[in-house]
Amino acid sequence: MSLVQRPRRLRQSAAVRRLVAETRVDPADLVLPMFVVEGLDEPRPIAAMPGVHQHTLASLAQAALEAAAAGTGGLMLFGIPLHKDATGSEATNPDGILAKGVRVLAETVPDMPIIADLCLDEFTDHGHCGVLTPGGRVDNDATLVRYQEMALVLARAGATMVGTSGAMDGQVAACRSALDEQGFTDTMIMAYGAKYASAFFGPFREAVDSSLQGDRKAYQMDPANGVEALREVQLDVDEGADIVMVKPGLPYLDILAQTAAQVSIPVASYVVSGEYSMIEAAAANGWIDRKKTILEALTSVKRAGGSIIVTYWATEVADWLNDRSDRS
Ligand code: PBG
Repeated sequence: MSLVQRPRRLRQSAAVRRLVAETRVDPADLVLPMFVVEGLDEPRPIAAMPGVHQHTLASLAQAALEAAAAGTGGLMLFGIPLHKDATGSEATNPDGILAKGVRVLAETVPDMPIIADLCLDEFTDHGHCGVLTPGGRVDNDATLVRYQEMALVLARAGATMVGTSGAMDGQVAACRSALDEQGFTDTMIMAYGAKYASAFFGPFREAVDSSLQGDRKAYQMDPANGVEALREVQLDVDEGADIVMVKPGLPYLDILAQTAAQVSIPVASYVVSGEYSMIEAAAANGWIDRKKTILEALTSVKRAGGSIIVTYWATEVADWLNDRSDRS
């Protein structure tokens, strides 16, 4: 036997494997999504997402401090109002729950990038991510006006960044021009470049007390399409996105890798609620090793090109990564 090429040489010990590892997840890569609910007295567990809570303003601040102490890279905030209506009016209320939550985060962790979610679905009584035409379709251009107002309310509240998750055509351009006109030229836009109409969002519906009937297939993308994703991503880049996101995470690593190859701005991946719940459920049953699976999943996202990873495990994983005794 004269084998010259022996790739196994590079796998012979933990120390060598560590030396040659191509991908490392760092706490700074991780963004923690958080839910703040109006009128809540104490944090409420989300049944479909064990370990994740709907927050009060007080528990939100506490969780933000923990995420910051662990060294996570940022926070993403969703707000759930008491009052929902057809236009999602609470989304643009400067004293509404989302604006209040942003203010609490900005005061509590002033150095932390705070991404406010720019979507109407938590605020509308019909649960869609926009205002409706008389015929019941989501009215793209009328919705853009709502998103412009919402971007300004959230920027004024202290959001470092807005996440354009409404999946409307022209949402990035509309928000960019509204922000710039009011002097918010430094407020960043995290564009949901490729956002799919995904069943993996299931548990999120409980997290935001969603009232949606039906689906979002008339505005979010068809999971069958990849070329279209690159078009959507390019439009967001051209419209002025600072960061572009692909969502969900693991089922769309091909889209993530192609996006990373196409653009020259940072690329984010959102490991969504259903992905979280699947791993938690399997781990709770003893079918998989929870920690190893979570680390493998997030490493795979990073390897595919997601340099920013939005994940409900952000604080916990950051704590693991900070533990030097735990390196393998
Ligand atoms: C829309 C929004 C959704 C998610 C994030 N932003 C739901 C949807 O588009 O239906 C899902 C995130 C997750 O499942 O973790 N506001």
